[in-house]
Amino acid sequence: ADAIPFTGRHQAGIVTPAQDRLHFIALDVTTDSRDDLVEMLKTWTEAARRMTAGQDAGPVGAVDGNEHAAPDDTGEALGLAASGLTLTIGFGPTLFTTADGRDRFGLAARKPAALVELPEFAGDRIDPAISGGDLCIQACANDPQVAVHAVRNLVRLGAGVVSVRWSQLGFGRTSSTSTEQATPRNLMGFKDGTNNLKAENGQALDRFVWVAPGDGGPGADWLAGGSYLVTRRIRMLVEHWDTVPLGRQEAAMGRRKGSGAPLGQRAEFDPVDLTHVVDGKPAIPADSHVALSNPTNAGTAILRRGYSFVDGSDGSGRLDAGLFFIAYQRNPETGFVQVQRNLAGDALNQFIEHTSSAVFACPPGVESGDDWWGRALF
Ligand code: HEM
Repeated sequence: ADAIPFTGRHQAGIVTPAQDRLHFIALDVTTDSRDDLVEMLKTWTEAARRMTAGQDAGPVGAVDGNEHAAPDDTGEALGLAASGLTLTIGFGPTLFTTADGRDRFGLAARKPAALVELPEFAGDRIDPAISGGDLCIQACANDPQVAVHAVRNLVRLGAGVVSVRWSQLGFGRTSSTSTEQATPRNLMGFKDGTNNLKAENGQALDRFVWVAPGDGGPGADWLAGGSYLVTRRIRMLVEHWDTVPLGRQEAAMGRRKGSGAPLGQRAEFDPVDLTHVVDGKPAIPADSHVALSNPTNAGTAILRRGYSFVDGSDGSGRLDAGLFFIAYQRNPETGFVQVQRNLAGDALNQFIEHTSSAVFACPPGVESGDDWWGRALF
């Protein structure tokens, strides 16, 4: 009952109502063999079909196989339901051309024009060791063990072809991606996801999220029906934030902390009206996060699907906590990059620090029984 269909025109895990837990992983391909890469993608697809249906990664399973062979599933999800598991794959710019310009897999001519590394932004503190990657897998589920199990088994099945570059666990979705969902709160204590693009806004999704035929330049039609994924690990300086008066927190965000209403309005879903003036001043301060990211100012929209994280503490008595920001868009340049540039003067910036960055092209969905992740590309 709680299995989300794996097949479809688009990959699951993008407009799927956001689940509670995330295990995100970026990988590098360690072989130059195109055949081995293709073989792995086929194997992954079969395992993903099974695991998203609540089954073991392989047909024999964790405990029914030959006692002299390693099991074809690791076992920790035995007895657990599908738990809304979605697995979403993406291809990084370096899969098409390496940083030193090599075309390892004969894919350079098929690289979408928009699939380029993100530029540097003011205030960035990006650690290259937890950024980039040739491939990524986003695993979301309502049970953390189900998400971890899926990633672990895909990594196991990729042995000899890929190695893990970096990974991120997330809890507590920080967005709603469907009007059916209540808006959750992020670690700053604010409702997050109110004005997000939602699964029900079909026209907006076609305009802002799904890649259309002809979008990516010559050779890139394989991406039609897919989307670009941007990830940013954003640390929140929570100890600083927690000393800030409520009124200043609300002014920095542009919304009320309790109700989530835009400043100057009453209810959460009241419109963000940047022209509304109270006592001679804009009700929503011009340098607030909402004013600067709202489409009126940013000129575009993105689908946000991030998660909170707490990766322990930093050795100086501070929590290493924040938002693992995930955005889907039709083009990174006119999506995330455009909004993030507009956020250069965001009042929120003094409380946050971007520490990792990545961009991936997520192919369209796996459609039929013999289809596999990335077939149209290879
Ligand atoms: C809106 C929090 C980073 C883009 C919001 C809202 C909150 C929030 C509370 C208002 C509720 C809503 O409409 O969803 C945060 C926090 C961040 C962060 C805590 C960092 C830790 C970013 C980044 C981007 C972004 C990096 C993109 C570059 C947006 C957009 C909106 C929004 C597009 C909707 C604005 C509107 O249309 O009214 N954010 N955000 N946010 N945020 Fe962020």
